[in-house]
Amino acid sequence: MQTFYIETFGCQMNAHDSEKVVGTLVAQGYRQVPKPEEADLVLYNTCSIRDKAEQKVFHRLDDFKRNGKGKVFGVLGCVAQQEGEKIFDRAPHVSMVAGSASYAKLPEMLVQLEAGGRRVTGLSLDNDQAFETPFTKRDNPHRAYITIIEGCDKACAYCVVPFTRGPERSRTSESVLNEARELARMGYAEIQLLGQNVNSYRDPSSAGWDFARLLRAVGEVDGIRRVRFTTSHPRDFVKDIIDAIDDNPVLCNHVHLPVQSGSSSVLARMQRLYTREEYMRRIDWMKNARRDITITTDIIVGFPGETEADFEDTLALLDEVEYDSLFSFKYSRRPNTSALELADHVAEEEKSRRLAILQEKQRAIQIRRNSASVGTIEEAFVEGYNQATGQWIGRTSENRTLNFVHPQLAAPGEGATLVGSTRSVRVTRAGPNSLAGEAVVPVSDDRL
Ligand code: 5AD
Ligand code: SF4
Repeated sequence: MQTFYIETFGCQMNAHDSEKVVGTLVAQGYRQVPKPEEADLVLYNTCSIRDKAEQKVFHRLDDFKRNGKGKVFGVLGCVAQQEGEKIFDRAPHVSMVAGSASYAKLPEMLVQLEAGGRRVTGLSLDNDQAFETPFTKRDNPHRAYITIIEGCDKACAYCVVPFTRGPERSRTSESVLNEARELARMGYAEIQLLGQNVNSYRDPSSAGWDFARLLRAVGEVDGIRRVRFTTSHPRDFVKDIIDAIDDNPVLCNHVHLPVQSGSSSVLARMQRLYTREEYMRRIDWMKNARRDITITTDIIVGFPGETEADFEDTLALLDEVEYDSLFSFKYSRRPNTSALELADHVAEEEKSRRLAILQEKQRAIQIRRNSASVGTIEEAFVEGYNQATGQWIGRTSENRTLNFVHPQLAAPGEGATLVGSTRSVRVTRAGPNSLAGEAVVPVSDDRL
């Protein structure tokens, strides 16, 4: 085996895991190729958060049932951990099944595959350390992920993550800071701290830092211009985090705080460990902060037992918080989870109806909120260029997409680019999901 192909599904944790897997394979002498047809080893890094995500990998594998001769297939990530050796029966052309808690053993598993192993597994969750490797191959030249905590110790009634990613393991603050400094030295401008629940970060070394302390320290690393973090759990979200954001503009003024439902009785059945009122207290901290903090969330509709009145509570919450954006999902039954035992599962059509109403309401809120930005000047970090529209693609600290034209540089060319720099942009138009504008270039400034 010399070449490999990898496709990644799911969250940013998975995306970052794949960066580490790719780095590990390259360090072992493998070469990455862009198409599965060209590869000796085909890997899928999978997600099982909802049934639809899980089915994707089986569709991919089915495609190769007949024409996969001569190739070796491996299933990694959350479906691998959840389904384990059952995958070998369902897709007999698969030779490796490994969950994220076993990636430190990848080099050994590769040796077994090379030796012709047909059922190579890495399925133990009995691991008290986060996966660290010097070989990460990062996809984005400007923004880098850093895992600070893996796994999850909560037991939300709908969620597979505690089963697929195992118990919480935090990295030492020293190792996180060393990685941040190294990334700054390599020229990365933005760092995104990752974990299933970053707020429960606890430094395992004697320093004993909590998340807010770590966030402050990463924000002080020389050369890093933006720091983001995801995901937060309202139960563990403390005001210190908002104070840290208020104290240092390098820390982006955006918080993703998944609420899941606006009804305290649904939240109790979900075992979320907070009430609507406790959640709103966190929202108040953000609304009362000195900086303008944008708030985004995740919502599940049609959780077992969700009544029309519960759903109305969620709609009212949208009006009360005025989220800048939200991810919404129909409840999906997941293996092992306690919600399977609950009564009163909501019909599929009813879930679809609620989802559509929720999304329509949120769309109106976003149009209203984004329109309020027209005429303001925002700082956009430039991430790319869109050939089709002739616009530079920028992102504000609040995590809004702000596409813009530049009077002196209409397009990249001959070594000239705005990508990787920060520009002042006057917002001229607003849609539900993005802003558009023009770069502000002072008359006296002939630099791009
Ligand atoms: N069904 C629907 N949505 C789910 N999520 C997690 N588990 C489920 C499920 N079983 C959603 C939650 C979570 C996001 C990542 O996915 O909203 O915050
Ligand atoms: Fe999907 Fe959750 Fe696993 Fe991420 S942690 S890949 S969202 S199941």
